[in-house]
Amino acid sequence: MSTPYPLALQVNGAEHRLEAALGDTLLTVLRDALALTGAKRGCNQGVCGACTVLADGEPVRACLTLAHECAGREIVTIEGAAGRAQALQEAFVETGAVQCGFCSPGMILTAAAMLERTPRPSADEVRAGLSGNLCRCSGYRKIVDAVLRAAETGAP
Ligand code: FES
Ligand code: FES
Repeated sequence: MSTPYPLALQVNGAEHRLEAALGDTLLTVLRDALALTGAKRGCNQGVCGACTVLADGEPVRACLTLAHECAGREIVTIEGAAGRAQALQEAFVETGAVQCGFCSPGMILTAAAMLERTPRPSADEVRAGLSGNLCRCSGYRKIVDAVLRAAETGAP
């Protein structure tokens, strides 16, 4: 068993002091130590995007990110969604973009970072921005519609 080391993580605006092995991923710590299960373990190898969270406002694959590398960074999960991410959540529901919901947290946080950079994207820009996030239910059209709808509301 790997030796645990102290780790202070800033998640959704709160500091968490815990212990984690050097090889523990951010996804493992979020889900198993902090019970923040919004970030999903899909492929667990960086392909599907279901584990996406924000680190200092940028989307990262929590399954490929070591927890200890996140010390000093501001991590946001879907549980801490506010502003654009909150507007996106509402737009996903209103547009019917949530089917099983497994991909939704990663899609929403990826889209939130995209809207931060490009507040009024075209449909093609949304498709390109979300191309690293896979939806097994294949409801891509409604997901794109939801992001465009959230962009229209111009949430902060
Ligand atoms: S679970 Fe991380 S990319 Fe699939
Ligand atoms: S809604 Fe089921 S995987 Fe996307």
